[in-house]
Amino acid sequence: MIELRNITKKFKDSIVIDDISMKIRDGELVAIIGSSGCGKTTTLKMINHLITPTRGKIFIDDVDIDTMDQVELRRGIGYVIQQSGLFPHMTVKDNIEIIQKLEKKSKEEIEESTSSLMDMVGLSDDFLYRYPTELSGGQQQRVGVARALANRPEIILMDEPFSALDPMTRISLQDELIALREKINTTIVFVTHDMDEAIKIADRICIMKDGKILQYDTPEEILRNPYNEYVENFVGINRIWDSPEYIKVEDIMIHTPVTCRDDFTRFRCIRRMRERNVDSLMVVSDDGTYEGIVSRRTLQRVSNLKLRVKDFMYTDRQTASPDENILDVLKIFDEKNVQNVPVTDENGKLVGLITGSTLIATLSQQYLTEEEREEEEGGTDHE
Ligand SMILES: Nc1ncnc2c1ncn2[C@@H]1O[C@H](COP(=O)(O)OP(=O)(O)OP(=O)(O)O)[C@@H](O)[C@H]1O
Ligand SMILES: [Mg+2]
Repeated sequence: MIELRNITKKFKDSIVIDDISMKIRDGELVAIIGSSGCGKTTTLKMINHLITPTRGKIFIDDVDIDTMDQVELRRGIGYVIQQSGLFPHMTVKDNIEIIQKLEKKSKEEIEESTSSLMDMVGLSDDFLYRYPTELSGGQQQRVGVARALANRPEIILMDEPFSALDPMTRISLQDELIALREKINTTIVFVTHDMDEAIKIADRICIMKDGKILQYDTPEEILRNPYNEYVENFVGINRIWDSPEYIKVEDIMIHTPVTCRDDFTRFRCIRRMRERNVDSLMVVSDDGTYEGIVSRRTLQRVSNLKLRVKDFMYTDRQTASPDENILDVLKIFDEKNVQNVPVTDENGKLVGLITGSTLIATLSQQYLTEEEREEEEGGTDHE
């Protein structure tokens, strides 16, 4: 685990990092994001002791990094920067192997490791004897990542490693990084300007502003509950629509659907529907367990007035759970061709209802402009 405890950094009189604390768990990928000059690079460089904090302490696995051997510390931490930082006068092979050679490992061992690293970052061994200038930007970054991995570090720091690349290369390197994480269990601190990138690759995102941490949480939490307006704007108001999997059933469901019990008569059902102005009733038992649905259409077909809800309710309707996402529910609507989907908790209790119109109302939000949204929110206040 990496822990920053009350870190402050001043350059001359200006405070660049202002009393930040954060923990990064083993094997986690944390993205640090924030506008230019907010202190991202400074934070990274303090972790590998290229910069010393003015105040506060940094611990790696509970050891104060001030007390560690600095060369060893840095060898245990891979560092990837924007322009790959490869040595121009060395071949790809030498670039990757330089640190291992310093450690006097056997040639065979090193070459085998190099070959597997090339494989990991998606480069063929044909590139080994080329020089950095003979590679594309994306290939150089891959070599940069391979070099950072060469010493099997427990931690890799990546400072905007993909930002100089064209969008396609960038996306494919992001995918490579995600795939790589399946194979290695390295802790990664990844600085980026790009929220899409952070959301895509990070387990947690740390949003910084003016040397402070505004919010440090999972992509999902940041999208759903931005800490303040700055974060919201930074994330982008409609951003959540780019990640609809983060919109949960409980966010959009009707929390108090109109219900009835299974001993209701047809007449009583119709009356309740009319009073409450709905087209269907959720049938629940006394303890709130979901049992089925009665729709207006079903009622129209019931001719025997002695029948009760339990005789004609519909029990096969697929239900959703509150933590499922909006895409799962859209699929139910689409595949089952239904008008609504009851929401039940893990004990089978009815906790909500999603109707076609709830979905449309939610989905249409993404097309509203900010002013329209404000008007709408203002409007609901008066209700
Ligand atoms: N060696 C230094 N001496 C004085 N000021 C510095 C030094 N290094 C960084 N700074 C200042 O500290 C602040 C934070 O710099 P830092 O490089 O950490 O920002 P950043 O978030 O990485 O920005 P960017 O996104 O542009 O890379 C900036 O205002 C910068 O000018
Ligand atoms: Mg920087």
